[in-house]
Amino acid sequence: MKQAISRRNFFYKTAGVSAGALILPSLSGFATQRKTDANLPLIITSHTNETGQRAMEAGWEILNNGGSAVDAVEKAANVIEVDPEDTSVGYGGLPNERGVVQLDASFMDGRTYSAGAVACLENIKTPSSVAKLVMQRTDHVLLVGKGALEYARAWGFPEENLLTDKARKIWLRWKEEMSSDDDWGIPEHLQKIRKMESYWQDFPDIEHHYGTTNVLAIDKNGDIAGCTTTSGLSFKLNGRVGDSPIIGAGLYVDNETGAAGATGRGEEVIKSCASFYMVLRMKEGRTPQQACEDALRMIIDRYKKVNPEFFPGEKFVAVNKYGEVGCASMTGKRSPQMSVRTRKGYIRHEGIVAYPGK
Ligand code: GLY
Repeated sequence: MKQAISRRNFFYKTAGVSAGALILPSLSGFATQRKTDANLPLIITSHTNETGQRAMEAGWEILNNGGSAVDAVEKAANVIEVDPEDTSVGYGGLPNERGVVQLDASFMDGRTYSAGAVACLENIKTPSSVAKLVMQRTDHVLLVGKGALEYARAWGFPEENLLTDKARKIWLRWKEEMSSDDDWGIPEHLQKIRKMESYWQDFPDIEHHYGTTNVLAIDKNGDIAGCTTTSGLSFKLNGRVGDSPIIGAGLYVDNETGAAGATGRGEEVIKSCASFYMVLRMKEGRTPQQACEDALRMIIDRYKKVNPEFFPGEKFVAVNKYGEVGCASMTGKRSPQMSVRTRKGYIRHEGIVAYPGK
């Protein structure tokens, strides 16, 4: 049987990162990672674009000035959430099937074992900040829909239309092209003459994506915090909740061990409690890299009997209390990456594709 993670996969890498970014190879398969806290404080995110890098600098400024992991994580997550160009998180995120942007986010503070989350939150650009307030200022963990919006209003969050022109056009294109059995799109008698592509050619291709961001940080006191924030699966059913606001699925933090977060197809992450599992594995002595790979393998093992060809697109990140990091994706031609900011500077860390041929 094919080994999920092999030494060969370790060397299965592509370049393709921007100039100036230093790539550190993953240490998957090597049990001798030196445990050190020389890397602390530290902040990471699964986002590696320019906004992800800016987010890291914003979070790092707080950590470097002695601030808390909770504050650093919130600041960094907000940078990504308010970016209108990012169609997977916060403002500018792709809407649900009705054209409504519904956001999910969770927050966890390892120091106090507190957690908060919001799901299907509309009209608020920074759901991570609302999740943080649920964590700090209520005796609950998860608020959804209208209740989450009421709560955000109570704290004075401004309500705004989150659907940008870019996201609305991608949604409209999806509406017009998703089915030949409805009346969206140009009249039937013109369809052969004027191809829809000619109208939509300037807009990005339609993708069903699960883009999300995880932000995890350890401050100078060794306290750990994390946040996962997303607009969720694009064109999802109205009211669908993904893994991001589910504590243990899209996010888990334990001060005694470390933290983990998930992006990708939320349905599998919910069923597998993937982030909790990764932290559990680290508690048992696995490195963050090994823990990410273990969680992917665990999901595949569950489906072996049902559908051995099912390899859901997931990407996991993890960090342990020593500041060691890991990152792994289920499939893909390119190695998954994540952003890491320490006092040594910014690093784009390269992880492992667990099932590269799939
Ligand atoms: N992982 C994001 C989602 O499934 O909504």
